[in-house]
Amino acid sequence: PEQEQALKAQIKQMLIERDAVLVAHYYTDPIIQSLAEETGGCVSDSLEMARFGRDHPASTLIVAGVKFMGETAKILTPHKRVLMPTLEATCSLDIGCPADEFSDFCDQYPDRTVVVYANTSAAVKARADWVVTSSIALDVVDYLDKKGEKILWAPDKHLGAYVQKQTGADVLLWDGACIVHEEFKAQGIEDLKTLYPEAAVLVHPESPQSVVELADVVGSTSQLINAAQTLPNQEFIVATDQGIFFKMQQLCPEKTFHVAPTAGSGASCRSCANCPWMALNELENLANVFERDDNEIFVDAELAKQAMKPLDRMLAFKK
Ligand code: 13P
Ligand code: SF4
Repeated sequence: PEQEQALKAQIKQMLIERDAVLVAHYYTDPIIQSLAEETGGCVSDSLEMARFGRDHPASTLIVAGVKFMGETAKILTPHKRVLMPTLEATCSLDIGCPADEFSDFCDQYPDRTVVVYANTSAAVKARADWVVTSSIALDVVDYLDKKGEKILWAPDKHLGAYVQKQTGADVLLWDGACIVHEEFKAQGIEDLKTLYPEAAVLVHPESPQSVVELADVVGSTSQLINAAQTLPNQEFIVATDQGIFFKMQQLCPEKTFHVAPTAGSGASCRSCANCPWMALNELENLANVFERDDNEIFVDAELAKQAMKPLDRMLAFKK
């Protein structure tokens, strides 16, 4: 803890001296989330991270999350320097959707509007008509469906299927998944519900359909935190990365939160309810973020120009 305090102090000093701000995701270590808050940065879902980074006056954004979040920040504000504690922090959805294969897929369906999840590379975004995050996926697809458009959706098949079912839109799915959310098991949640019958079930839509079907609330990380605050329940079963408990517990100290069971529950499973890439963000690599030359985000100018259009559309869609 003493060393932790020293590192925190060092980081706080660094942020001031370097005109930098820390933008963190709810899945990062609580120590990073609290540091972001204490220093005037933000901790939020991926949509609000993008908005915050775009609007904040600091000349350097330090993005603690996974790589697509840093890339989004860079695309939206190319004049800012964007650093990350490590560029190794990727995402299984991003890995599972290589730009060249995705572009070929789109070429086969020229009549479809291409909607991609934010958890993708800049090159995949550059091929899209729309970028969405989990917080606005439903609203955007519903809007496009009402205009009579057919959708090509990538990469998360579970979120895509959920959106398809809710809106009734014609949605063609890419076959990708999040390795963390895919592990949640409906049976395990049913068992927990027997133990805690008063608990409300909160589910991130990257989870399989059988798990989504058990949810009282389905939503982005911010929306789930909001539900924890506003629902009258005192107990919750939560199917998303356990990093979210820090904020839930902080906002609702009197309530109880149970992590939804996964296939590997009980055993030591690194990616069970804990994204192994989000976990790569640590105080140590954050403290020396300016001292290295392997952690700055660069996006090809032409790609960035293309990717900016669907990203702008996303940010303008819902304030
Ligand atoms: P949110 O947009 O809900 O924060 O989700 C991002 C993510 O990576 C979920 O796994
Ligand atoms: Fe990607 Fe899943 Fe990790 Fe979110 S939790 S960053 S979707 S691997």
